[in-house]
Amino acid sequence: MASKVEKDEITGVETTGHEWDGIKELNNPLPKWWVLVFYASIAFSVLWWVLYPSWPTLTGHWKGVLGSNQRLALEEQLTKARAAQAAWLEKIATLDTAAVAADPELLSFAMRGGEVAFKDNCAACHGLGGAGQFNYPTLADDDWLWGGTLADIEQTVRHGIRFFDDPETRDSQMPAFGADGILDRAQIDDVVQYVLSLSGRAEDAAAAERGKEVFLDNCAACHGEDGKGSHEVGAPNLTDGIWLYGDRPEDIRAQVTKPRHGVMPAWQGRLEDEVIKMVTIYVHNLGGGE
Ligand code: HEC
Ligand code: HEC
Repeated sequence: MASKVEKDEITGVETTGHEWDGIKELNNPLPKWWVLVFYASIAFSVLWWVLYPSWPTLTGHWKGVLGSNQRLALEEQLTKARAAQAAWLEKIATLDTAAVAADPELLSFAMRGGEVAFKDNCAACHGLGGAGQFNYPTLADDDWLWGGTLADIEQTVRHGIRFFDDPETRDSQMPAFGADGILDRAQIDDVVQYVLSLSGRAEDAAAAERGKEVFLDNCAACHGEDGKGSHEVGAPNLTDGIWLYGDRPEDIRAQVTKPRHGVMPAWQGRLEDEVIKMVTIYVHNLGGGE
């Protein structure tokens, strides 16, 4: 083996002097900058392990000499935010909902708090922004089943609708006119036409005319003589073209034959009192508050 530095004839690169069966190893060292960065990053990672939480240990994990912890930092931020909110919430707790809504600063706080609570608890049924969906009423329009004043909405939210775990829940039952044989087929056909006529969509004027009698005798007690509904019993306005259970003649026939009844959970006891007030104010301000 050659003792002095030897060069490969083809590439002109120094060899390391290692040779196997005539194959020689070229000496191509890594660039200096690369090696420096490599060692620096090792040093950096060692330093990092020491300073910050890193390795698992027998009893938990290495906490790092800086004692830094993002969870703690987050908690600190949350505590601060809660303290800032606490003052507002305390005020809201002592006032009734109307008084909260009347104070511009509290109102804007309540709107934000109410929006969050609505997204978390109500939007699954009522849609984002109270847009509603089939079978679940829109809360952003001025068509109300049970009333759209602050007090009405608060009562609905606190005690629910047909939610019998709550003794103060709103309740009403539309009779099953078909299934219970209160009206016969012909009468139901007529009253369906009359209901359609209330929003200008009757297909059979003579039937609608006959249906008026049926309506006044059987339906007006809840839906009103003019068909505009009643907040007392949560009977929908049948004249406004807004439908909970569909606007086709067969939808209306189905409701008259064997009615559906919406159930809305009570939130008293499940949401904090301040949150109920805030979400009430939020719903009232969605656009349809009375
Ligand atoms: C499980 C589904 C569901 C959830 C969750 C829900 N609701 Fe309802 N809500 C309903 C149904 C169904 C009705 C209609 C009941 C009826 O037919 O009378 C209703 C009715 C209402 C009404 C009365 C509307 C009117 O026209 O009078 C208000 C106000 C209301 N909900 C607010 C809320 C708020 C605020 C929340 C959240 C805290 C909420 N709801 C959560 C299902 C739900
Ligand atoms: C005891 C009160 C009561 C009587 C009487 C009554 N209804 Fe109703 N009706 C209701 C209530 C309450 C609802 C809403 C149910 C709900 O919110 O889930 C309703 C819903 C309806 C709907 C569905 C409206 C929609 O938006 O989809 C129609 C249609 C209807 N009633 C027609 C009639 C007709 C026709 C009669 C008479 C033959 C009648 N009702 C008698 C209480 C009554």
